[in-house]
Amino acid sequence: MRSFKSLIKTYALLLPSLVLAQAPTKLGDAIVFGQGGTYPRAIKLADGKTLLGVYTATTGANTTLTTVRSTNNGASWQPIGIVDTGSKATKDVDNPYVYERPDGKLLCAFRNHDRSGNAYSFYRITVCISEDGGVNWNFLQTPASDPGGLTGNWEPFLQRALDGSLQLYYSRETSGTDQDSLLRRSTDGGATWSSADVISGAGIETRDGMLGVAHTPNDSSPAKVAIFETGNPSKGVPFSVWTVRTENDGANWSEQRTRVYQPEGHNAGAPQIIRVGDKLVASFGTDEDGGAWPSGAIKVMVSRDGGKTWADKTTVVGPSAAWAGLLALDDSSFLVLYEKSGTSYAQKLSF
Ligand SMILES: *[C@@H]1O[C@H](CO)[C@@H](O)[C@H](O)[C@H]1NC(C)=O
Ligand SMILES: *[C@@H]1O[C@H](CO)[C@@H](O)[C@H](O)[C@H]1NC(C)=O
Ligand SMILES: *[C@@H]1O[C@H](CO)[C@@H](O)[C@H](O)[C@H]1NC(C)=O
Repeated sequence: MRSFKSLIKTYALLLPSLVLAQAPTKLGDAIVFGQGGTYPRAIKLADGKTLLGVYTATTGANTTLTTVRSTNNGASWQPIGIVDTGSKATKDVDNPYVYERPDGKLLCAFRNHDRSGNAYSFYRITVCISEDGGVNWNFLQTPASDPGGLTGNWEPFLQRALDGSLQLYYSRETSGTDQDSLLRRSTDGGATWSSADVISGAGIETRDGMLGVAHTPNDSSPAKVAIFETGNPSKGVPFSVWTVRTENDGANWSEQRTRVYQPEGHNAGAPQIIRVGDKLVASFGTDEDGGAWPSGAIKVMVSRDGGKTWADKTTVVGPSAAWAGLLALDDSSFLVLYEKSGTSYAQKLSF
């Protein structure tokens, strides 16, 4: 009895620090974000209340980039439009990401490859534009392209820079065992693009990919953290999640890579990152609890020091889920978007 009492005392003493470093908890059940779909992504529009999402749907023999909208803070989502669609046999549209320009027009960047049989014959990152809130879409530009072979372009991510220009982050293979993180800029809303800077992976043979970028400690700060997966499966190196950092809104980036999560003998990858109030939240998939990589559990971790250290690993959904995205709703709650068994879901979490 006595030892039990002292145990309670010990817990009581621990409690204040547990409250201070609180892990996020799930609020309610996961909501359907997209039927027959994967790679869910969403943003909050400048009106402060509309959430606009996009995902890759399978429609018959096609893949289709479908836009969805929520006007109740993510409690439900309705499909509203199609960015692009095409037969899986000849075309591969996937990895969509949406962005709202200061003029209210929307952009969607996505991978838009040609293929014949199992081989890619041309790689593109395409940007389309919508002038009606995401219902109808037209071609705007192809900021990146490469002939077929090994130099694929993947997973675009769009972000406004503090000077009002537009930044396009994406991943580009340079060989079967090497991929780098790239950044191009546009000062005319996506109509024309700069050449690409390498922001991670230069000079090392490793597959850096699946970028996301967040400001810290606030959205007017020039300090940003870019998250990515890195690994080399064909060389027996599992994926793990790392960051690089800029202090000047992307002009240059740290050579130093900071670890977010690296499970022993398993993979962690396909990350994203957002700022939620004064914290950074990272999401990733991992096969440490089972699943056939790249499927597994979806987990989040939290940084309270601007991305230097990461803690509070929290499981959002167990195996087998994949391709998580993140959306901050306010300074204390956020959505984790993911695919499970061919349906895309949004799970709300809160600190
Ligand atoms: C498939 O893609 C083609 C070509 O873009 C389009 O005409 C057709 O409507 C699409 N079908 C479906 C079921 O999405
Ligand atoms: C944002 O963070 C910077 C530090 O990088 C600070 O100087 C600035 O005052 C902050 N702005 C707001 C609006 O909190
Ligand atoms: C960026 O460039 C500035 C000026 O050359 C330099 O002082 C700084 O260390 C660089 N930052 C990084 C992260 O490399």
